[in-house]
Amino acid sequence: MAIDSNFLERLRHYQPRAIDLINRFSQARVLVVGDLTLDEFLTGQVERLSREAPVLIIRHETTRQVPGGGANAVYNLATLGAQVKVAGFVGKDEQGNALRHIFEAARIDTTGMLVDSDRPTVTKTRISGHARQSVTQQIVRVDRKSDALPSLENQLQLAAYIREQLHTVDAVVCSDYGDGVLTAPAIEAALQHPLTIVDTQKHLQRYAGATLFTPNLPEAEQAVGYAIDSPQTLTQAGSDLLSLTRAKQMLITRGDEGMSLFHPTGTHDRIPAFNRTDVFDVTGAGDTVVAALTLGLTAGGSLWESAVLGNLAASIVVRQFGTATTTPAEMKEALEFLLSEESGVLT
Ligand SMILES: Nc1ncnc2c1ncn2[C@@H]1O[C@H](COP(=O)(O)OP(=O)(O)OP(=O)(O)O)[C@@H](O)[C@H]1O
Ligand SMILES: [Mg+2]
Repeated sequence: MAIDSNFLERLRHYQPRAIDLINRFSQARVLVVGDLTLDEFLTGQVERLSREAPVLIIRHETTRQVPGGGANAVYNLATLGAQVKVAGFVGKDEQGNALRHIFEAARIDTTGMLVDSDRPTVTKTRISGHARQSVTQQIVRVDRKSDALPSLENQLQLAAYIREQLHTVDAVVCSDYGDGVLTAPAIEAALQHPLTIVDTQKHLQRYAGATLFTPNLPEAEQAVGYAIDSPQTLTQAGSDLLSLTRAKQMLITRGDEGMSLFHPTGTHDRIPAFNRTDVFDVTGAGDTVVAALTLGLTAGGSLWESAVLGNLAASIVVRQFGTATTTPAEMKEALEFLLSEESGVLT
């Protein structure tokens, strides 16, 4: 599908400024308050059936560990070049240590990654097998998580850390996957910052007064309580979400439809998806949007300019399997390509 020629013209005009903004990503200092997940991928060769039970026996070959959930937002900010601090909980376990090491290797400040010894690090372990000449296939996923909330003591300790950091950062991102980091004290502390970007699966109204929200379509539908399936319901949802959250702006990410940015004036901008041809895995694309968008804002970009950068970054990560990250160099290259004739978006 071609991108509308008016939009493309606006994008062409924006390109030099977009590059300026991207060049300033490395100056940004961002605090992420988030539910931290470790994604684990165990793979091996299928050997035979077990004699103990009718199950496959897999000879372990590789283990891959990558940040997931809010940790993916943290990691995306770091690979985009920002100076990142993370506030959240991990368990007193190997998975928590693994996540800490991944972050430290990316120069992320982990001082605010508090150890909650009552609850495990949220971990999703996919076990996959392959036979001699076949593709690797996921067989089962094992999740580790607790339904309990962190103790009040831990919640207050986290809130105190957030409050201490507020004057040292240019923006605060709340990445709420419903795993207990964003309780009332943490939210209250985070919202003291003048630039707060909220990505939450549920309960947007708990963040009333934040600068910007980035729900995806199902999250937006859940929040307003009706299906968003026509231009009318989309406009209505934008305005309902703005009054629900008292936010300055609302960005609904809409998968292959791109995104819609709603202004308090009742108008909205549509930003089409930049890449609809080589899309392999959209997991975590929302985290990438939040990361690039936040850095656009801290560099001084307008909301539209920053949302376009989020959309551009997402168009790169949807090409890769699993949660993925991108870099300023890749973003500039992707923009260049998008505006070139080879991209075919004009045809
Ligand atoms: N199928 C797709 N084709 C092209 N672009 C896509 C597609 N899905 C997602 N995108 C890009 O990624 C952005 C965010 O996607 P989406 O709305 O699915 O976020 P999300 O559901 O919050 O993702 P997640 O929660 O897995 O991180 C979109 O605005 C768009 O730019
Ligand atoms: Mg999301």
